[in-house]
Amino acid sequence: IYHLRLASTSAKAIPGTAKLGTPWEELGFEFRQTNSHVRVTFKNDEWGEPELVKDPYIDLHIGATALHYGQSCFEGLKAFCHEDGEVYVFRPDENAKRMQSSCRRTMMPELPTEKFLEAIQKVVQDNIEYVPPYGSGGALYIRPLLFGSGPRIGLQPADEYTFLIMVIPVGDYYKGGLSSPVDALIIEDFDRAAPQGVGAVKVAGNYAADLLPNMLSKKKGYPIGLYLDSKTQTVVEEFSTSNFVGIDNSQKKYVTPMSPSVLPSITNKSLMTIAEDEGLAVETRDIPVDELKSFDEVLAVGTAVVVTPIGSITRLDNEGSELRYEFGDKQIGDTTKRLYQKVRAIQNGEEEDKHGWNYKI
Ligand code: COI
Repeated sequence: IYHLRLASTSAKAIPGTAKLGTPWEELGFEFRQTNSHVRVTFKNDEWGEPELVKDPYIDLHIGATALHYGQSCFEGLKAFCHEDGEVYVFRPDENAKRMQSSCRRTMMPELPTEKFLEAIQKVVQDNIEYVPPYGSGGALYIRPLLFGSGPRIGLQPADEYTFLIMVIPVGDYYKGGLSSPVDALIIEDFDRAAPQGVGAVKVAGNYAADLLPNMLSKKKGYPIGLYLDSKTQTVVEEFSTSNFVGIDNSQKKYVTPMSPSVLPSITNKSLMTIAEDEGLAVETRDIPVDELKSFDEVLAVGTAVVVTPIGSITRLDNEGSELRYEFGDKQIGDTTKRLYQKVRAIQNGEEEDKHGWNYKI
């Protein structure tokens, strides 16, 4: 383990000055090595202090509960560079709270919000040159991870935990971003989350369970999968990577599923506030599949995908016949564009942050 000094103790680094070998405007959503990650260990019933670590490899006990029993959760949030060169993180306190709820569900010790924020400060400061410059459209993706690193072989929670945060400069998750609506496929043969399972928390296993359905839908030509509720298969739940939002322009409605097995997206929560500010009525409720035909626009929303327009949603039955709901005639809808521009303008510091969402580094 190599402990690093804080970059801020020497000359202050400048966002967008790291050498990536790819223009900042062309970043996708891939892993890239940066200067360091931050690590905090829970041992003897207490959390230690956040430390910067250069080596991206972890020396992990072979009995770690994360490896055997999936005792692991993560988060996703972003830092943005404003026009004046200052860097802000979007709503990190919300991620701290959501991670605490994942910890409660999987019997891991909760990391206090203050320590979570301190760790973010430290790792973003040490990687400031990897924050994409203002105007590039990119962001520094912040990925906190908390897992059982202590050994157990009986099914019990560990007594040692590791919290870490890695950071990676990113651009669009789905190729083409806002200008290319994505085609979705309803996933019929697999469920994302059981009604009283772990769908509402951000545990690693939820994403492992989606890898196969995700790959199968991609092979059929649909980059994104849409899950229905696992009990009745009649109600829309969420996309594999993100939350579902339907827009009804004639009734000025923003509709998003209300379900105890959907992950409470912070982007969705923010967009609901923005939608209300914009005069839309926000409805959080069950969305029967058949209601898809009444939406003018459908969006996938989340930290990584931001606001991604959905061009169509297809349902294939066992005989191979297909039912297709189309939105926006392959164009991005006006409401989608407005919501996207508003949230990005707040994140970029171009619009007043009246809800106090930007956290300064
Ligand atoms: C995020 O949006 O931050 C996530 O964690 C979703 C993941 C599939 C990239």
